[in-house]
Amino acid sequence: MAYFSKVCNVADVVEGHGFPVEVDGLRIAVFNDGGQFHALIGRCPHANGSMGDAWIEDGEAVCPLHRWRFKLATGRCTTVGGNSLHRFRCEVRGDEVWVEA
Ligand code: FES
Repeated sequence: MAYFSKVCNVADVVEGHGFPVEVDGLRIAVFNDGGQFHALIGRCPHANGSMGDAWIEDGEAVCPLHRWRFKLATGRCTTVGGNSLHRFRCEVRGDEVWVEA
């Protein structure tokens, strides 16, 4: 059953970038898009690129390996249809980031 865990502090996640975290061995990428926080699975479906090292362009996470793009709001890939990243519920609580995984 999914439950919320504290994954990092707000200050850890530089605006416009991903930040890699782990919940029970599951790699998750946290993003700060202008103060809005999002959490996507941390492995790109193309070739396992680290989404925790991704950056944000126009509301999309860009994989650092081959630049596939994924909507932060849905996890859907806009580069190659039919691919997506699982999206997790993500909340800011005070100065902490919590993710439901
Ligand atoms: S591994 Fe992400 S685009 Fe290739």
